[in-house]
Amino acid sequence: MSTTVLDVQAVRRRFSSLQGDFVFLDAPGGSQVPDEVGDAIARCLREASANIGAPYETSRRVQQILDTARDDAGRFLGCSSDDVIFGTNMTTLDFMLSRTASRDWKEGDRILVSRLDHDGGVAPWVELAADRGFEVDWIDVTDDLRLDLDDLAAKLDDRVRVVACVIASNAVGSITDVKRVAELAHDAGALAWVDAVHYAAHEPLDVQALDCDVLLCSPYKYCGPHLGLAYGKHELLESWRPYKARPAGTTPVGRKFETGTAPYELLAGFSATIAYLESLGGMSVLRDYERELGRRFMETVPDSVTIYGVPTMEGRVPTFLINVDGVPATDVATTMAERGYGVWAHDSWYSVGLREKLPYPQDAVRVGFIHYNTVDEVDGFVSELAKL
Ligand SMILES: Cc1ncc(COP(=O)(O)O)c(C=O)c1O
Repeated sequence: MSTTVLDVQAVRRRFSSLQGDFVFLDAPGGSQVPDEVGDAIARCLREASANIGAPYETSRRVQQILDTARDDAGRFLGCSSDDVIFGTNMTTLDFMLSRTASRDWKEGDRILVSRLDHDGGVAPWVELAADRGFEVDWIDVTDDLRLDLDDLAAKLDDRVRVVACVIASNAVGSITDVKRVAELAHDAGALAWVDAVHYAAHEPLDVQALDCDVLLCSPYKYCGPHLGLAYGKHELLESWRPYKARPAGTTPVGRKFETGTAPYELLAGFSATIAYLESLGGMSVLRDYERELGRRFMETVPDSVTIYGVPTMEGRVPTFLINVDGVPATDVATTMAERGYGVWAHDSWYSVGLREKLPYPQDAVRVGFIHYNTVDEVDGFVSELAKL
């Protein structure tokens, strides 16, 4: 438990987009962004439009933006700034890094992916396997929609090269014990490859404590610009041969895996995002606050609402997949939008492997609380649900 209390009204004053009446419960698709992040992006474009390596001031400013962004990412992930890789988004980084990691794998090698995962953490491996003759097998989920670690243990053998899984589901919110996944994977000689896109918006990250080999996330889920961010274990990054243009820089080691010119203005925005999160006391403060929102939702939601998956706030983030008895999910979303609440309906939420475990016929509504939401917003949403 953190001792700092979040002053949510002070937080909200930092966002132009939160000054109206509309209630955004859609952060899992991409969060709102505080003005200071947009300002930092604009400042970079005004004052540091150049490329790196030139002998004048604007170029030096760009280099400074890059170095600062790496340091900030290292602090956010719990790793050295050397071991950070920036990219377009998680999915693109995952396609690139999965190919990089597997350059010397052999036909018949196995890959374990998880049924809890967003397809951004699955498709790269499925396509890789199709190209290279690897086998892909699925780790199942339990009845309450958590990753089934017994099933993982049963499916591991010495042909498995990687276990890829999500720490928190973007669909149903369940958290996976990734430290245990990494232990099991490493005992079998496999890599532990973690999708933290959803988790990073709600919980502190520490890649050393998790002991994962690769971890990916996306700053646009936690009040930042549209970017992807990855961590790779130093020795692995040193050993992998990158896909890149040959004259481009190779130090620090994470830079080896960044192709082309970086989006400098977004990196300036990224640093402003980390400064914003740190100014609130860090992710543990946000986690404690958000858990209260989640608890309140679960305790007050009307009986007509089904929440799929983990039934308490233990072992989940405050992201809820729901349906309302007798009302199609698309109608729930449309009505809620008319009443000032931003949620929408989808069939799988890109969690393709999970879809067949979900009992609804067509769609479900995803409700995502994040630290800029308030108790009043939770209460207002619940009371509108009750009226449907
Ligand atoms: C859990 C999870 N993994 C991966 C992704 C894909 O992320 P990106 O849009 O950065 O490629 C998402 C996006 O919603 C996600 O929620």
